[in-house]
This record gives sequence, structure tokens and C-alpha cells, in this order.
Amino acid sequence: NNNKNNNKNNNKNNNKNNNGVNLKNLEIFDTTLRDGEQTPEVSFPIKAKLEIASKLDELGVNTIEAGFPITSNGEFEAVKKIKQLDLNATICGLSRCSNKDIDAVIDCDLDRIHLFIATSPLHREYKLKKSKEQILNKISESIIYAKEHGLSVEFSAEDATRTELDYLIRVYKEAITSKVDYIDIPDTVGILTPKKMENLIKDLKSGLETNKAINNSSTLTNQINIKSNMQMPVLSVHCHNDFGLAVANSLSAFEQGVSQIHCTVNGIGERAGNTDLAEFVSSLKFLCGIEPETLTIKTELLSDISKLVAHYTNIPIAPNKPLVGRNAFAHESGIHTHGVIANALTYEPISPFDVGNKRRLVLGKHAGAHSIKLKLQEMGLNVGKNLSTEQFEEIVDKIKALGDKGKLVLDADLRAIIKDVTS
Ligand code: KIV
Ligand code: ZN
Repeated sequence: NNNKNNNKNNNKNNNKNNNGVNLKNLEIFDTTLRDGEQTPEVSFPIKAKLEIASKLDELGVNTIEAGFPITSNGEFEAVKKIKQLDLNATICGLSRCSNKDIDAVIDCDLDRIHLFIATSPLHREYKLKKSKEQILNKISESIIYAKEHGLSVEFSAEDATRTELDYLIRVYKEAITSKVDYIDIPDTVGILTPKKMENLIKDLKSGLETNKAINNSSTLTNQINIKSNMQMPVLSVHCHNDFGLAVANSLSAFEQGVSQIHCTVNGIGERAGNTDLAEFVSSLKFLCGIEPETLTIKTELLSDISKLVAHYTNIPIAPNKPLVGRNAFAHESGIHTHGVIANALTYEPISPFDVGNKRRLVLGKHAGAHSIKLKLQEMGLNVGKNLSTEQFEEIVDKIKALGDKGKLVLDADLRAIIKDVTS
């Protein structure tokens, strides 16, 4: 392997970005088994949930959102069994802000509860039919109830990114005064861009870290002032991929000091899915050169877990899927394969082995003499030794003729061509 991965570069171990934001800490919150399972037509049998949870733990995620225990008896049993696996990861369960839901999480004996309630005007009016004040009350009651039962609490304001900023700050302040441990910002319908994410995190941080008045007179009567000695919870984001920006938005949030990122394997999840775990972690590590001290993902296991999830979801991995797709490190054209044979970095940004994938040199109409020679060598045939130059040229012509018909030349085809030419 001559691919020495010179992209793990420059600012490795540089834990501060240009704005002085600390990038030392990063926790990967995996929601493959919860939001991922909400992918249309996906339902994991218990066996699949247990196997995926074990592999996620081996991969090194910090938290596994095992499911939504109140949903069904099967879901409750699966989540409970995942907790009984006694994995290294924190095991979390989703819950609405209702005691019935919270009790189901308590009964599964989980480490963390992920409480959520929608906060945007659309959801308040059409779904919850609740006032802003009623929602604030639900948040504090639920967090306090869950904490009384010994749970670590993560709180999400569903549809946060379409919520009025002043109200969103009040919502999160309510959660903080109720002693929440994590506050998560869901981009529920994936409408942010990296720049909008950056601005939102900056606004939220300054709104939460200071006790400055929220300048909307109608809300002033219900100001919540955070006591100066109060512990700031861990900030988290949950991005959806409706515009294909979930990974970019998550990177942007991380660069603003958000230290927990929600991800799923293969980016599965509601509609267009969530932040793809392999793409997020690899971009951070190999492109940004940032390896937070707490990042524990073994990137060389990414391709295997991607295959496992594809198997249980029945959603095949697109050949051109970044990093884990079968074409992610495949080369067909003569120019590219020639380059890759000389030094793989010419046409590969990182080594396929870094993410557990394989390099493939494909023979087709764009194939060049170099890759064909290499393939023949792998089969024990060397031009000038046991193969004449004329025979080699005939083999090249036949490969190109097949390629012109739109076919790929697989090993069996090549063996047939060799037999034809040499007999
Ligand atoms: O997308 C979303 O808002 C969610 C919440 C449950 C956090 O999945
Ligand atoms: Zn979601």
C-alpha cells in the first residue's frame, strides 16, 4: 500500500480553530436504531438490533440511541435487551415529554433519556395545539421527573431550526434550569446551510451564556435567568439531509464548538435521512485533520458496519456512496489506473484501508495497458515471458471490444479471452 495518506495533515492535534473555539471534545451519538429505523419500510427484528448495537459499540460510538421504548412491546424488549448487552457505549432511549413515555425508558433501565417536544409555530399550532407556556412547563416537568429517576437527560426542541430564536432560547434556558445534561438542536426538516448553522449556534450560545433580556416584550414576563454557577450542558446537533447538507451542517456546528453530533450508519433516517456517520467522521479526520481527543471511532470498521446495516435495511449501498461504496476506490480509465498503480494518491484522497474498503481496478472500454498488464500479472502472466507482445495486444483489443458493448470485463471474461488468444 503506497498510499501514505498525506491528508492526515497540517493541523492534526490542533484543538482550536481560527476563532479560538475548543475542538477537543467530540461525542458521536448514533441513532441508526431509532431515527434510522424510522426510514420508510425499515423495521429491524430484535436480532438485527442487537447485532447492530454490538457493532456500533465495537466501532466506538459514544452513545447508542437504541429506540423509542413506548412504541411497541417488541421495541421495548429490543431496547431493554440492548442495555443488557452491557456495552461500553451509553444506551439512550427516545421519549416524548410525557410520564408514560419516560416510565418506559426507566423500565428499560437505560443510562440516558432523549426527551423531545416540538417548539416551532407550525408544530405548536397544528400538531401539539399547545401554547408556548404549556410547552415550557412540559419541558421542565419532564426533565425534573426523569432526573429524579436517576437518568442522564438529553433534550431536543423538535423543529428547532424553524422556531423563533427568542423562544428557542427560552426553551433551552428552561431545560438548563431544570438541570438537563445535553441540549440537542434538531434541524428536523433539514433546512439549514453551513453558514446558517454557524449563525444559529453563535446566536444560541450568546443567548444561553448571557442573561441578557430577550427583546420580545410579550415574553418578558416569563424570563428565565440562568444562575451564574449553573453548569452549561453539552451542546448537540441532529441534522436531516433533505437538501444533502446534513454532513456539512454537522461539520459547521462542530466548528462552532458543538461537541455531540447525531449520526446514522449509511445516513438512514426519516425521508432523506440523517448525518452519515462515515462521511462526518472521515471528513473531520482526513479532510479537516482534526482528531478530537475523545473521538474513539475505528474508521477501518466503517465499511463492514455499512454492509451490515444495508443488509438489515434491505437498502443497498449505492456504488458511488462516498468512502464505503464499491466504486469509492475503483478505477477504470487508463489514465487513472496508470496513476494509481504508480502512486495511489494520484486519484485517491485517502487509502481505502483507512475506511475498511478495497481498491478495485476495473477493466472496461477505458482500461489502459498498465492496468491490463497488472491484472495479467496477478493471474501469473507476464508480457515478454509467458505472453508475447502480439498476444497482449490482442487481449487489449478484445477487452476494449467488450467494453464498447457496454460490458465490464470480469475475471471469468478475462480468463476466456486469455484462453482464446493463447490456445
Ligand atoms: O428530527 C427530529 O427532530 C428528531 C427528534 C426526535 C429529535 O428526530
Ligand atoms: Zn430526526
